[in-house]
Amino acid sequence: MSSDILRRGRLATAPDEEITKFTSSMDADKWIFEADIAVDMAHTVMLKEQGIIKESDCYGILKGLLNIKEGGIDKLDHTYEDIHISLESKLIDLVGEDVGGRMHSGRSRNDEVATCIRLVLRDEMLGLMGDLALLRGSLYSTADKNIDTLMPGFTHLQHAQPTTLAHHLIAHANVFGRDFDRTLSAYSRINLSPLGAAAFASTGFNIDRSRTQKLLGFDDLVENSMDAVSSRDFLIESASVFANVMINLSKMAEEIVMWSTAEFDFIELNDMYSSTSSIMPQKKNPDTAELIRGKSGVAIGSLMSLLTICKSLPLSYNRDLQEATPNIWRSIETTRAAVRIMAGIVGTMKVNIDVMTEQSVTGFTTATELADTIVRATGVPFRTAHQIVGVLSRGKGEPTLGEIDAVAHNVIGESLSGRGLTEDMVREALDPRSNIKKRNVTGGPAPDEIRRSLNSNMVKLGKDEQKLESLNKRIDDSISNLLGVVSECISKQ
Ligand code: ARG
Repeated sequence: MSSDILRRGRLATAPDEEITKFTSSMDADKWIFEADIAVDMAHTVMLKEQGIIKESDCYGILKGLLNIKEGGIDKLDHTYEDIHISLESKLIDLVGEDVGGRMHSGRSRNDEVATCIRLVLRDEMLGLMGDLALLRGSLYSTADKNIDTLMPGFTHLQHAQPTTLAHHLIAHANVFGRDFDRTLSAYSRINLSPLGAAAFASTGFNIDRSRTQKLLGFDDLVENSMDAVSSRDFLIESASVFANVMINLSKMAEEIVMWSTAEFDFIELNDMYSSTSSIMPQKKNPDTAELIRGKSGVAIGSLMSLLTICKSLPLSYNRDLQEATPNIWRSIETTRAAVRIMAGIVGTMKVNIDVMTEQSVTGFTTATELADTIVRATGVPFRTAHQIVGVLSRGKGEPTLGEIDAVAHNVIGESLSGRGLTEDMVREALDPRSNIKKRNVTGGPAPDEIRRSLNSNMVKLGKDEQKLESLNKRIDDSISNLLGVVSECISKQ
């Protein structure tokens, strides 16, 4: 450490290595290195425009910041307690204290760090929305290829009724559509500027908060300066979005693991997403899906850490908050990778259509349709039909009309064929394809309904992608505008 610009006034003894390591946020701060420079630039430009620093000082600071940006984070001294002070100290080394020492006027690390976290997190949220759109696209296009692929639907993990793979995959895709909406909603509370709140009580310098807000592409301010430096509800909200995404992925991953077993044999993963055993040469294991399931623990753990760290903190800034931030980076990194990997798994897996079709009727999955058919053909109440088919299910399943009549005699004292039930009706009720075709109510698995649903979901996906593109453009434009303002300031000298 060349000169400790932070401690030299107030503190006499330096922390030893262990204390330094314990208190430093340098490791996690690699996430906010570039954001911090953007914040420094916007603040410096505003200070000059407000007449708080001279044009020549602004020039010197901006030149120095560009130089530091070019050198990258590795050129910084990592023995400081955080990136902000390391960066400012480097600036002072480069351009002298009379110039560089003016950058932190009207600002504190408290509003600075909150601004940096929001800048990086908003980009990550936009990235996550892109990843979720990719996954939804992958699920919808696999669904589109499997509108006629029969499979058993499950409740309690027991064969329940026939459905199609398309129906099953759209169910998952629509959940990720809501995850997209949740991410977008959280984004609106992230993209707000805390800058100018200073330590917590704002500042007596004549700063312009809305100017730095606009230069950094924030939609609005976190107005109250105590709220601005101390609130991390946006982290908790985001971590909860990530945990939700990971839970949804984990549920899918569990199915992928099961469906890859010899017992199910519904799918085979692409080798890319599989591993083998170091001892059992025949093994093909669905490790990527298992790890998606396992890594949901990282997202849940991060959310729990954030909640626990923020609990009971008095206003305003407390150093505890430093411990909150790494949780969000850990969680977003894991979540985004898991979403992208799941998109790849779904897009490349081989579907064993024959096995799924065969299994679609295992366990008398057409029993509900048989009971419904009895109701429609004979007028007996559903509960009575349920009892008759229930008794038949105790046997081998898939009964003949004669067997149905025999049970009906025992239950209601008359035959159902006498009340209009025919062989054809029974045969149709037991046919899984006609089961599916009949289920054409909104959201059901009938091929026509699935085609309608796929179309409308693809329209929503398209609209979401457009929304995302315009948000990305707004952010990109604001950052190039900031860099434009910076080079204009520099060129004036
Ligand atoms: N590294 C700190 C954090 O992440 C930056 C703010 C430090 N502020 C302070 N008053 N010590 O929270």
